[in-house]
Amino acid sequence: MLLPRPTTATYGHGTFLLDESTRIHASGATAETAHWLQSVLRPATGLPLPLTGQAGTGLTLALDPELPAEGYRLHCGPDGVTITGADSAGVFYGCQTLRQLLPAETYRAAPVPGVAWKIRYGTVQDAPRFRWRGTMLDVARHFMPKPQLLRFIDLLALHRINTLHLHLTDDQGWRVQIMRHPRLTEAGAWRRESQRGAAPDAPGDQRPHGGYYTQDDLREIVAYAAQRHITVVPEIDVPGHSQAAIAAYPELGVSGEQLETGTRWGINSNILNAEESTLTFFYEVLDEVMDLFPAPFVGIGGDECPTEQWDADPRTQELIRQRGLADSAELRSWFLGRLGRHLAQRGRRVFAWDEILEGEAPRDTLVASWRGMTGARTAARRGYDVIACPDDLVYLDYRQSELESEPIPFGVPLTLADAYDFDPVPDGLTETQQARIVGGQANIWTEHMDSPRTVDYYAFPRLCAIAEALWSNADRDFEDFQERLRTHLRRLDALGVEYRRVDGPMPWQTRPGVPGKTSSRVAWAEFIDTLVAPIKT
Ligand code: ACM
Repeated sequence: MLLPRPTTATYGHGTFLLDESTRIHASGATAETAHWLQSVLRPATGLPLPLTGQAGTGLTLALDPELPAEGYRLHCGPDGVTITGADSAGVFYGCQTLRQLLPAETYRAAPVPGVAWKIRYGTVQDAPRFRWRGTMLDVARHFMPKPQLLRFIDLLALHRINTLHLHLTDDQGWRVQIMRHPRLTEAGAWRRESQRGAAPDAPGDQRPHGGYYTQDDLREIVAYAAQRHITVVPEIDVPGHSQAAIAAYPELGVSGEQLETGTRWGINSNILNAEESTLTFFYEVLDEVMDLFPAPFVGIGGDECPTEQWDADPRTQELIRQRGLADSAELRSWFLGRLGRHLAQRGRRVFAWDEILEGEAPRDTLVASWRGMTGARTAARRGYDVIACPDDLVYLDYRQSELESEPIPFGVPLTLADAYDFDPVPDGLTETQQARIVGGQANIWTEHMDSPRTVDYYAFPRLCAIAEALWSNADRDFEDFQERLRTHLRRLDALGVEYRRVDGPMPWQTRPGVPGKTSSRVAWAEFIDTLVAPIKT
């Protein structure tokens, strides 16, 4: 009953029992994972599970570099459980499997009396299909406080997600402390109120919202994630989605007017100006971001950037002429290109949304294809690496069914079965182009998720399905998945995850009277098709 489904699992007769005498054997490169394993098994079992450097009966962690990257082999027999990983990530994932082979009570936080901590004899062989198994969390629209973010990281690790893309800035909030530019969080980390619902005429809720991570918090978050083999990829979204920065420093905007941090959802025409001083400001921001996040990639957004303010602004038009560019669209590519060059000079790669393909994207850009899979195909054909995150399959803010009781129903219905159908590799690519698809990710936009409880509702169990699409081989059997999910939900119950029930929201998960904005799949596909026309090849 493993989830994600492993490559192979065979079971024998008999069980190994964890008891007062059980030890964890680990050394060298496996010692850190052994400490973590001890820390997650102790609370519920109440067992001491001491660590030793010697071989013996019990739980043994070892390395075998011959195994595929991040892969592992788990064997359980009379002498206990041996987990052999290709690398420390593989050992870690083997330990996650070990937890799943134990009773679901394993996931509780205090001793559960009367449970036999038994593991069936058997062998599991496993390795991931993709090396980027991601989830984007939008902490800009609604802030997720640090303790809940750490809990979320644990939930990702449980599902073998290895990349957390943090969407740290947007019109409605700036969530990363920047020492050089303190007003980004002093002014930009909070807004006066939030739009209540998705309808264009939805009223404001008249309640301030805010929060941000200090640099110490972020170092802690990055280190906590790293212990769980998760890379945190930061995103500073420019030159659109930047009103919070402009509210903090009006000189970053086109008009220079004092704006407030955004209170309305949707696409916003208040974008950054393209002055050299604005680029310098963001070089300084990115320098601090690179100090905090060792990830090889840094997100710079590039999405949903309407250029009408640039088109109408004489100074911007002058800059376009001075730089020998044709128009505002070329200026947007130029702006992102300059930031990309700054990152490249410091050994990092650009991560950006698929709009970046509307111009010439910086070399080595990792393109996140979100408007369906057109961006994935085009990027792969042009020789860019790709993360697949097609909105109609992995945007977890989209409603989970056609039920009217779905909270603030938004977008197209994106059911558990739809999410399970996600395949990051689009059709129409040669083998070489297919190799450009380095993985995929779920995207959790939080306009309509005003608390971690609500994030639970939207994320789970669809994220369980997407995790399997990213980890397991391409075979799909939804019935088999649903059966394994039934067992898996007992684990999430033990952890207190407030996932969506199969028949709809609990009464307290509904939002009566708060309007959504829905679309049919057909109408939405037509709309997306018009958006991606410029990047179709
Ligand atoms: C996006 O959904 N604007 C990337």
